[in-house]
Amino acid sequence: MWGFDGRPVLVTGASGGIGGATVRQLVAAGADVVASARSKPNLEDLASKTGCRALAFDLTSEDSVRGALEGLDVWGVVNCGGFGGEIATPMDTDIAVFDQVISVNARGALLVTKYASRSMIRLGKGGSIVNMSSQAALVALAGHISYGSSKAALDNITRVSALELGKYNIRVNSVNPTVVMTPMSAFYWGRPEIGEPFLKQMPLGRWATEDEIAAPIVFLLGDGASMITGVSLPIDGGFTCC
Ligand SMILES: NC(=O)c1ccc[n+]([C@@H]2O[C@H](COP(=O)([O-])OP(=O)(O)OC[C@H]3O[C@@H](n4cnc5c(N)ncnc54)[C@H](OP(=O)(O)O)[C@@H]3O)[C@@H](O)[C@H]2O)c1
Repeated sequence: MWGFDGRPVLVTGASGGIGGATVRQLVAAGADVVASARSKPNLEDLASKTGCRALAFDLTSEDSVRGALEGLDVWGVVNCGGFGGEIATPMDTDIAVFDQVISVNARGALLVTKYASRSMIRLGKGGSIVNMSSQAALVALAGHISYGSSKAALDNITRVSALELGKYNIRVNSVNPTVVMTPMSAFYWGRPEIGEPFLKQMPLGRWATEDEIAAPIVFLLGDGASMITGVSLPIDGGFTCC
């Protein structure tokens, strides 16, 4: 119902499972998608299949993000690039992995917000940002000390950015999905002794698909959500409600 009318939308993490589905749904909804990740061949493959543009940069480097985004016209952003890090407790965490997870998932999304929001303000047409958080930001999950902390930081980036950018008619929201069986999650959640008890506690009792995450992202990004900003939306089959 609400199309994007050729508005430019940057999607980071576009070569991943959820990012790729988001690119496909945004292109179908009429957005001019700029797909980003580090690996150029994956992006070029996506571009040839969907008609999106490809723009490679590294979320852990401010120079790389600035170089890619300065001068790029952007109306929307999906901050989907992410790193799973390790499964570890506070007692045995590898702090170098913690730093890397924060660097990609929270600091990287903030850097993209920093330079993309400058473009949105310069263009003067409002804008919309959706940050890819996680259920791990909302509840304590065993083994998720680094990842959950990075996504909780990202949810705070969402709220403060919503506060600061609202006066420019730029909305900022998070989505907080449950597990999608991409390579990032399959090594852990795919183990029966981990996955089965988890699904027993979830009202819908199954894993999410990439398209079930992409669809609410497209909704929050677009004009159908024009009065929604600063929220963290669980897409979790009800897991965090009980
Ligand atoms: N899968 C799940 O169960 C799940 C659940 C909740 C939330 N999420 C979140 O959803 C997002 C996508 O997850 P996914 O499962 O689709 O992951 P994925 O398939 O592993 O994709 C990760 C994406 O991030 C990019 N990336 C990683 N490090 C980067 C860096 N330093 N600079 C730029 N790009 C980088 C990767 O491309 P390159 O390697 O080419 O850079 C890839 O496009 C992540 O933020 C994740 O935390 C996932």
